[in-house]
Amino acid sequence: MKSNLVLVGFMGTGKTSLGRKLAKSLSKDFIDTDAEIEKITGLSIPLLFKKHGEIRFRSEEKLVVKKAAERDECVISTGGGVVLIPENISALSRKGWIIGLTASPEVIFARVSKRSNRPLLYKKKSVEYIENLLKQRESYYQCADITLDTSKLPPEELITLILQFLMERGKNEKN
Ligand code: S3P
Repeated sequence: MKSNLVLVGFMGTGKTSLGRKLAKSLSKDFIDTDAEIEKITGLSIPLLFKKHGEIRFRSEEKLVVKKAAERDECVISTGGGVVLIPENISALSRKGWIIGLTASPEVIFARVSKRSNRPLLYKKKSVEYIENLLKQRESYYQCADITLDTSKLPPEELITLILQFLMERGKNEKN
C-alpha cells in the first residue's frame, strides 16, 4: 500500500502550502525537497543556482528525492522541475500517490511575482514566459495520478478531493 503523497506541479501552484496543510490533516510527516536541498548544501536555492548552476541543483535534487521516496507516511512537496527526471518519478511513485497541482498562468504570475526566490523566473516574470514554460513541461506533469487546479478551489476543498481520491484508490487496491 502506498502511504506517501507526493505533490508535483509548476512553480506557484501551491505545493508547499497545500502540502503542509495536507500533512497536518493526515498526521503525516512533511518533507519539502527544496528545503532539504538548502539544508544539505547550506545554500539558498537562488545561491545554489548562481554558484553552481542548474545541473548541480538537479543532481542534489535527485539525491534528496531518492531519500524522501524511501520514507513512509509522508507528504512530499517537490520542486517544479522534479518531474523532468524520470528516475525521480519512478522512485516517488513506488510508495506514493502523485498529486499534480496546476493553476492558470495568470494566477501563477500573481503568486510568483510576490517573491524573488525562483532562479528560473529571475528577471523573466511575465504571463507569456510562464505560459511557454508551462507548455514545455505539460507532458511531464501528466505523470500525476490526479490533477487539481489550485486557482479555482480553496485548500480545504482540495484536501477533501485528495481524501476522496485516496478512498477510491484504497477500495480499488483491496479489490
Ligand atoms: C524549479 C522550481 C522551484 C525550485 C527551483 C527549480 C523548477 O521549486 O525547485 O527553483 O525547475 O520549476 P518550486 O516549484 O517550489 O518553486
